[in-house]
Amino acid sequence: MSDIDAPEVFVWQNIEEQARALFALYGFNEIRTPILERTQVFTRSIGDDTDIVQKEMYTFEDRGGRSLTMRPEGTAGVVRYLAGKGQDAGDARLFYIGPMFRSERPQAGRKRQFHQCGVEMVSPPSPLVDAECIALQLHLLKEWGLDGCVLKINTRGEAHESRQIADELCARLMPNREDLCADCQRRIDENILRVLDCKNPECGAIVDAMPPLTEFMSADSRAYFDKVVALLNELGLRPKITPRLVRGLDYYNNTVWEIAHPALGAQDALAGGGRYSIQMGKKPLEGVGFAMGLERVIMALNAVDALVETLSESVLLWFVSMGAKALDANFILEQELRNRGVACGMDMTGRSMKAQMRAANRANARFVVICGDDEVAKRVLLLKDMGSGEQCEIDKETLIERILQEKG
Ligand code: HAM
Repeated sequence: MSDIDAPEVFVWQNIEEQARALFALYGFNEIRTPILERTQVFTRSIGDDTDIVQKEMYTFEDRGGRSLTMRPEGTAGVVRYLAGKGQDAGDARLFYIGPMFRSERPQAGRKRQFHQCGVEMVSPPSPLVDAECIALQLHLLKEWGLDGCVLKINTRGEAHESRQIADELCARLMPNREDLCADCQRRIDENILRVLDCKNPECGAIVDAMPPLTEFMSADSRAYFDKVVALLNELGLRPKITPRLVRGLDYYNNTVWEIAHPALGAQDALAGGGRYSIQMGKKPLEGVGFAMGLERVIMALNAVDALVETLSESVLLWFVSMGAKALDANFILEQELRNRGVACGMDMTGRSMKAQMRAANRANARFVVICGDDEVAKRVLLLKDMGSGEQCEIDKETLIERILQEKG
């Protein structure tokens, strides 16, 4: 878990601002769900046999003996919120930006507290909505300056087909069971789809020799997927059909995808998403969404040199005070200018003139007001233009006028 401080925090502010602007363009509203939820919100939706639920959740009992979990992802909390709204959830389009928690082995691009920027769209199955969701995600990555992303896509078929698909897979994997890794031998019984995306080369070879998942699906599911792919191609987004992609969360059905960036190396998944059906209220809620890992987005921006280190807005004015009376006078004037929208600052510790000028430089001030007890007595101020180095004596009213003009 890391602190995020200046100047890196300016990059975060920048990408969050760009995301908010783009989400507004697509008609999304922000949702801020609690970081802590009842554990069952996650176990029921993400699935008991997933890595997240089995190994990665920060779960504890509160004083009332309730099991609570720090959210490992955003979808479950949003669906819990929408289920509470019932009919009113309608065709909600929501986005979120915030910290998530997974107790994973830390390595480059993998943190225990990380940040996701994601969306959830309530919608019954529709290839158009799935394609729109993916298009939005790639639009945002482009807006951030990340070209060259690879969109890997696949389908898990409709929810009601999952039993049949699992049986077909099982029939083909059983003869090779002994050659699979120990994890996959367990997965055959518990979560068979995950055998498909096992990183072990022997398991990979067995899976690659099998027909793709789509072979075990209905014509409707295949047509749905073909339509999503055709729409994405028409948008010029070049989806790469990836038969082994199934994603690590159980709530998915139909379209699933991941976006990778070559600059990221082993942990190259910048983002993932898919269509889901999650039951929390009376009826299952159908939707589609995605989440991007912001640490990875920033790593990729760094790697392709697209990281624009936006400096914080520099202050217009810095007050330098020599003596107690000057300090008070500057303090009052500083607050007066801030009330009128001027970014300004000052050092209140009464340090030397040199130290205060250094602070003005650090704050990137365009002007410095210098005031000593003499100036207070004469009711004037010294105004220094830090760009030109020019300095003049000025009265308070003229200074305010000038600074407001500079502010524009
Ligand atoms: P996910 O694939 O588990 O999907 O996570 C999405 C993204 O979060 C990943 O692609 C990765 O960039 C980032 N991420 C995940 N774990 C870590 C970590 N430990 N450190 C740094 N980054 C990480 C979901 O969470 C789904 N809720 C996405 C979704 C939304 N599907 C539908 N709607």
